[in-house]
Amino acid sequence: MSPLLRPLIGLLVATGIVSVQAQNLTVPTPSAGLMPNATQGKRLFEKNCAACHGQNLRGTEQGPPLLDRIYEPSHHGDASFQMAVRYGARAHHWRFGDMKPVPGVSADEVAHITAYVRQQQRAVGIN
Ligand code: HEC
Repeated sequence: MSPLLRPLIGLLVATGIVSVQAQNLTVPTPSAGLMPNATQGKRLFEKNCAACHGQNLRGTEQGPPLLDRIYEPSHHGDASFQMAVRYGARAHHWRFGDMKPVPGVSADEVAHITAYVRQQQRAVGIN
C-alpha cells in the first residue's frame, strides 16, 4: 500500500466508515438454485420488516421507506439487504437511529423479501 494512503485508511477505519471491511463480516448467501419469490417475500416482509418500513414499504415513525430512490438496486444492491438483516445498519441516511439485526430471518428468506421490494420499487419506477 502506498505510504500516502495508509493514514487515510487508518482514519476511515477509526471513524467507522469502513467498519464492515474492518470487522470482516461476510455477506450471507442464499442457497444455490433458490428462485426468489416476491409473493413469499411479501408475507415475510409483513412479518419481519413492515413494523418499521411500513406495510406498503412507505416507512413508519420507526424506519425509512424502501420505496425511495436511495434504495434503488445500483445504490443499495441485494447484498445490502442481506447485511442489514444479519448485522443491522448504522443510521446514515435518516434520523430513525440504527437498524438492529433481525434474528431468525435466513438468507433465503431475505432473498424472497428483496424480490418483493424490487418488484414494488419497479412498480413505482425505481429501478
Ligand atoms: C426496528 C425497526 C426496523 C426493522 C424491524 C427493520 N428495519 Fe430495516 N432499517 C431500519 C432503519 C431505522 C433503517 C435506516 C438506517 C439509516 O439511517 O440509513 C433501516 C435500513 C434498512 C436498509 C438499508 C441498509 C443500508 O445499507 O443503508 C435495508 C436494506 C433494510 N433496512 C431492510 C430491512 C429488512 C429486509 C427488514 C426485515 C427483515 C428490516 N429492514 C427490518 C429499521 C428497521
